[in-house]
Order: sequence, then structure tokens, then C-alpha cells
Amino acid sequence: MPQRPDTGDPIDPILQYLKSEAESGGWLRCSITPARGSAPWDRLVAHPVRLGRGPAIKLVTRSGKKETTATVAIEDWPDRLMQLIGTGAVNLNVIAPGFEWHARRTRDGKWLLSKGRPSLERERPEELAPHDRLRGRALSETNPQVQALFIETGLFGKSGVLLGDAAAKHRQVQHYLELLRPMRVWQRGQAVRVVDAGCGKAYLSLALYLWGELRRTPIELTGVEANTEIVGPVEASARRLGYERATFRPQPIREFTAEWREPVDLLVSLHACDIATDEALAAGVRLGAEAIVLVPCCHQELADQVEANMKAGSLPAAETWGAVLNSGLQRHRLADIVTDSLRAAALEALGYSVDVVEFVSPEATARNLMLRAERRAPGEAQAQAAARAYERYTALARAWAVRPALEALLGDLWPPRGQEATPAGQGATGR
Ligand SMILES: C[S@@+](CC[C@H](N)C(=O)[O-])C[C@H]1O[C@@H](n2cnc3c(N)ncnc32)[C@H](O)[C@@H]1O
Repeated sequence: MPQRPDTGDPIDPILQYLKSEAESGGWLRCSITPARGSAPWDRLVAHPVRLGRGPAIKLVTRSGKKETTATVAIEDWPDRLMQLIGTGAVNLNVIAPGFEWHARRTRDGKWLLSKGRPSLERERPEELAPHDRLRGRALSETNPQVQALFIETGLFGKSGVLLGDAAAKHRQVQHYLELLRPMRVWQRGQAVRVVDAGCGKAYLSLALYLWGELRRTPIELTGVEANTEIVGPVEASARRLGYERATFRPQPIREFTAEWREPVDLLVSLHACDIATDEALAAGVRLGAEAIVLVPCCHQELADQVEANMKAGSLPAAETWGAVLNSGLQRHRLADIVTDSLRAAALEALGYSVDVVEFVSPEATARNLMLRAERRAPGEAQAQAAARAYERYTALARAWAVRPALEALLGDLWPPRGQEATPAGQGATGR
């Protein structure tokens, strides 16, 4: 369909904006609701995304209970938008980082427009889930240094606005920083030595570095990433940003742990896959970190062990958990919970206090648990808490007849000093 010429309608600047600012992140979401029966669908939501082949617009169309997804190449978007708007009565809602547009075309073709603040800002904090009830963003986006960071890491477009498909990562980074805020490690009064294990493109690492700078707590950052192709560009970003105390190591966490000789105050890890989270945990403990903060990713290791135990008929937990274990999906979810519970108990057994918090909304990602561990002061209380945690660990590992890779990764630190000498899972499985 040919592009509609500018008619001088009040809607024209909005349509123009939707066409020209899709790539720059000028808007995040646009929903179109036609009058009932005037289109073969009920509602359509469009948002900019970046695909391997370049920028595009993702279209999610709802028709009754059915939802279909399609993408449109960025060069085809202007024509497609006009096609979607059609000529009949329609509601158009555009969400941009700092404002919202509501537009309605009446049956007689007249456009009624209003512009306001984004609806999220209008939400009352007490109605938000705890993970959304933050005191504000850890990094303020109006700060030019923050803008420069997010543009450099690709979360913002060049014009300095959040890109639609980067919204989830941006939110994760902001929440992660906010949840680090209460930790004791910042009270040292000197530089904090941070390791980001499985740092990927360093969205979190570089944001953490700047956050420290802005709070006048310098951070000496080491990012560890096994994918050697990512590390060069990340290192270059750090240099362009002038983050002098940020360095990156192209190696697996395990190898890094064996080689690293410097002290570590805080170890962070965000979505390191499967047992890479255990490598991160073990790195934190073995390198003597005061604090270890992990957001685990996919879990496969223990799910596989539970499956094998089920098949072999050697799963003690089956006696009481039989009703849950009948379903493969529930078995997997339960294995996830067992995995993170064993990680938390292991950290406690090794002298840390641990809290498990929801990191972002489950709608944003199912990988939304955060384990936040801080080393307890040595003494009788610490020893007793550690002994109780070790008991919890062994009981759980026995019930599920699992032997987590974490135990081997901890090397001679597991079992913890003063605890029994057999690895926890051994008694149950007879291995
Ligand atoms: C899902 S990405 C998350 C990256 C980053 N933390 C973030 O949240 O944007 C997981 C990263 O961990 C890296 N990784 C996986 N296993 C690793 C290991 N054993 N050692 C170091 N890096 C690892 C992967 O290459 C990948 O870049």
C-alpha cells in the first residue's frame, strides 16, 4: 500500500514519529485496537526489535484467544503501519520512554488525541510487587554518564532512549544494582574488588562500575567470560567509556578461579548458564569474597540426575513427592528449586548468611531468583548456623539422591571444615 501523503491531520506527527523513530528507540510499544468487526483481528501490539538481519518491528496480533506473532523489516514498517491503522474507527496507544500518546479516530474520521506521562510512572508504589517497588532507578537515565554507558552497551539507541528489545536487560541491570545497595561490602570505605562471573556483554559489569563511581565507591572490576569473541568488544567499550579499572578475562570461570591471586570482595553473576552459576559460587567462596550475589539461569544438571534416579527407581523423595513427580514439567520445576536450595544451604554451610529474593517480575523472566550471600562474622554463632545448614544440605541431597557439581567445584572446601567427611549425596546414592 502506498504511503499516505501528509494530510495535515493532527495524527500525522504521531504516525511520522512511529515511522522514523522505530530504530532509535524513540518509542517502546504501539497498540492498535480497531472498531469491532472492522479488521480480522481484535488488537495488535507492535514493538521495535533487533534481529540478526537488522532492526525490525515485532507484531503480536490477538484475535479472540489466539495470538500470532510476525516481524516486519524496518523499511516495510511505514507502509504496514498505514495498512494497520486502516480508515475506520480505531484506538492507537503509543508508549515512549518519557510519555504516552492516546489517539482515537471516531466513526466520522476525526482524530482525538491526548499525551501524558507513561502509565508505569502513574502506578502507585504500594500496588507494585516488591521487586518493582524500588526507590527509583539505581542509575538515573538523565545523567549524561549513564546515557553514555547505555548507548555504548547498546541498551539505548544513539538518541539516548531505551530500545524496545533492550527493556528487559535494562530492567534486570537496574534491579540488580538496587538489590546490591544494602550490602555491607560498600561500607569498607575503600575500593571494592568485584568479579562478574560469566559477564557476557558486560551490561551488568559496566553499569556496576559506573554506579560505584557515582556513589564515590571506586570499583576494581574483573569480568570473566568464556566466549572469547565477546571479550574484545567489551574491553573496547570499557576503554571508550574511560573505565580504567575495568578489565576482562577471556576464560572459563573455573580456570580463572585456579589462576586468580588477587583478593575479591564481591562476586556477582547474572544468568550464567546451568553449572556456570556453581562455578561462580565456588569462585566466590574459594577466592574469599565477602559477598556473593547470584542470579542463576537455566538448570539442567540436577534435573538430569532426578530423571535418571526416577528411571532407576532410586529416588527416596518419590515416596512423598510422587504426586508432583508424575509430571515432567513439575519434576523440572522441583529440580530447579532443589538446585537453588542446595546452593543456598551450601553457602550457609560455608559461613555465609543467605537470603533468596525475587529479582524481577516472573513475567519478565522465569529466571528471577537472586541468592544474596554475605560472610558471617566468625564465632560460635557462625559455626552453629553452618552446621545446621550442612545438615539441611545433606538431608536434601539424600532425599533427591543427587550429587551437585558444586561439591567438586569447591574442591577441598567441601565438605566444610568440621563437618563429616563424606560428600553429601554419597550416602543416598551409594556412589
Ligand atoms: C546468558 S549469558 C548472561 C551474560 C551476562 N551476565 C548478562 O546477564 O547479560 C551467560 C554468559 O555466561 C557465559 N558462560 C557460560 N559458561 C561459562 C563459564 N563456565 N565460564 C565463563 N563464562 C561462561 C556465556 O558465554 C554467556 O556469555
